[in-house]
Amino acid sequence: MQDQHLKDFLKEFNISDSQIQELYKRFTLEIRKGLSKATQKQADTKCFMTYVQDLPSGDEKGDFLALDLGGTNFRVLRVSLKGHHEAEIDFKVYAVPKEIMTGLGTQLFDHIANCLAEFVNEYSLGDQHLPLGFTFSFPCIQLGLTKGLLVRWTKGFQCAGVENEDVVSLLKEAIARRGDLVIEVMAILNDATGTLMSCAHRNPECRIGVIIGTGCNACYVERVENADLLEPEHKVDKTHILVNTEWGAFGESGQLEFVRTDYDRKVDKSSLNADTQLFEKMISGMYLGELVRLVLHDAIQANLIFVRSSDKKKFTNALAERVGCFETRFISEIENDSFPDFQQTRIILKEIFGLERASVEDCQKLRYICECISKRAAKLVAVGLSGLINKIGEPHVVVGVDGTVYRCHPHFDKYMRDAMRKLVSPKITFDLMLSEDGSGRGAALVAAVASKN
Ligand code: BGC
Repeated sequence: MQDQHLKDFLKEFNISDSQIQELYKRFTLEIRKGLSKATQKQADTKCFMTYVQDLPSGDEKGDFLALDLGGTNFRVLRVSLKGHHEAEIDFKVYAVPKEIMTGLGTQLFDHIANCLAEFVNEYSLGDQHLPLGFTFSFPCIQLGLTKGLLVRWTKGFQCAGVENEDVVSLLKEAIARRGDLVIEVMAILNDATGTLMSCAHRNPECRIGVIIGTGCNACYVERVENADLLEPEHKVDKTHILVNTEWGAFGESGQLEFVRTDYDRKVDKSSLNADTQLFEKMISGMYLGELVRLVLHDAIQANLIFVRSSDKKKFTNALAERVGCFETRFISEIENDSFPDFQQTRIILKEIFGLERASVEDCQKLRYICECISKRAAKLVAVGLSGLINKIGEPHVVVGVDGTVYRCHPHFDKYMRDAMRKLVSPKITFDLMLSEDGSGRGAALVAAVASKN
């Protein structure tokens, strides 16, 4: 893409190396604040204790149920751990209607219990009393493996009566209201924790789990002596603890203002959870498409793209009026397209926006806009991951990765690695591995490790 005007227009999305260094400094400081009792309250990244203190050995065996709430879908799973680092998984996806996402908490948990019952019946698991792991992917203060108080909703959920409550109790109450299920909830965990467990199950060098999906977060293995918030009894027999950083909240005290743009501010203001999860809003799938929508709209208005298109007016109106119309998956599809056909890009432009015959140049420009936004997201993830890798300090660190943005985007992995190479200490080598169903397998592993203890 050669157009200097468009490049200038998008300049503020291209975070420079020195800005990256500054972000790195601020991020690592925030993590240290989150870990310390004296400063956790002021920290954006709360670094919650997960009470998971063992990584899986790979020998775990047994059948488990798992619930997975907090991504694009709600799922119920049966996970059979087979030993030898293997697992078999069956699952069903259930919709969570918008009215439930923003309705009453009791309705949400009744819905979950109903789906669980349907699954148990369908798979004839009723008399097996399988232990259950609950992957609940929202920030929670954990008071143990089976107790987690929701701090606040994120990612478009906003159910009344759940914040500050123990989510496991709410689930148990909903199960009791049905009266026909006998289920033992063994653990509540975050999806980033599940991803770490599930990847460590396959690769014992895994020390970090990161989610780059609807939301964004990371969990990592910390030494107990650095876990100021962990009660002394949990430090007696154990050397490590998994920490849920909740890094999506980074920036809430202003540390990201020097790189945030007016587009980021707009996206934040129109979200259900304004002023929170600011790092997440620059990275995750719930928001990247929205950023492109707003930027593209203004770029057209400024006569930088689609200048000669006869449908220009229709296009700008659609972008202005239809919030959410530029889906994040379009970014991946557009960046995956090839010059000069831009077949997929043209399909999107035609089918979604009614724009016929886009020029090659316009397709290239659109791809450039997408690239600027996804590259920036990848660089921010790289800042966080490099901070954690250097903190762990082992000679080789494997990072387990999950989430639709990472999975579906053709170059996100490369963008991340390029940025990480500049930040990770030269004494450390790192690798990224794709998680295989972290929320399901991970939940079963946490439940398995818990029952071992
Ligand atoms: C939540 C995290 C979760 C992440 C990824 C964020 O919005 O706060 O708990 O891990 O999304 O799903």
